[in-house]
Amino acid sequence: TPEKRLPSKGDVLVYADPAKNGAPVALADIKEGQVVYAFPKGKVGGTDVVKNGVTRNQLIIAKFPPSQLKAPTNLAATDQGIVVYSRQCMHLGCAVEIKPYPSKGLQEAAVCPCHGGVYDLTQGARVVDGPPPAPVPQLPIKVVGGQVVVQDTFLSLPYDISASEFTAQKKE
Ligand code: FES
Repeated sequence: TPEKRLPSKGDVLVYADPAKNGAPVALADIKEGQVVYAFPKGKVGGTDVVKNGVTRNQLIIAKFPPSQLKAPTNLAATDQGIVVYSRQCMHLGCAVEIKPYPSKGLQEAAVCPCHGGVYDLTQGARVVDGPPPAPVPQLPIKVVGGQVVVQDTFLSLPYDISASEFTAQKKE
């Protein structure tokens, strides 16, 4: 189904919040120290589709002072300190949430509610705690015309994310 397609070049990030009716995320809402949850929206077969049919396409838009973004973040895939990741935990596929995480030198982190996986979004979503075997995948974006626009699909899709998604979909 079109809603399960991966993000692809030219997709615009839209609010995940249903109250916003699929509107593009406004740059003014992307602030340092806060995050916006989003989905990719783009043409599939000539029709605009919000690709909200899989956990993998639930996205976190975060913003940091550019000097705080460090390797292995792919900096060429960020813009103005804005970095985007999938929310799908690489352990068993739950959706991570941004939480205060006042340890290990972090103020906040992406935390998985299922088994306590923790990812540092300033460093390529490296795993800082819990069982996830790999970082959540980064999505390359650019700011174009006041919107956050996808430049390519996820930068890493190791084999185990398909397994995670398969498990998550079977549970639904
Ligand atoms: Fe995220 Fe297990 S599913 S830590």
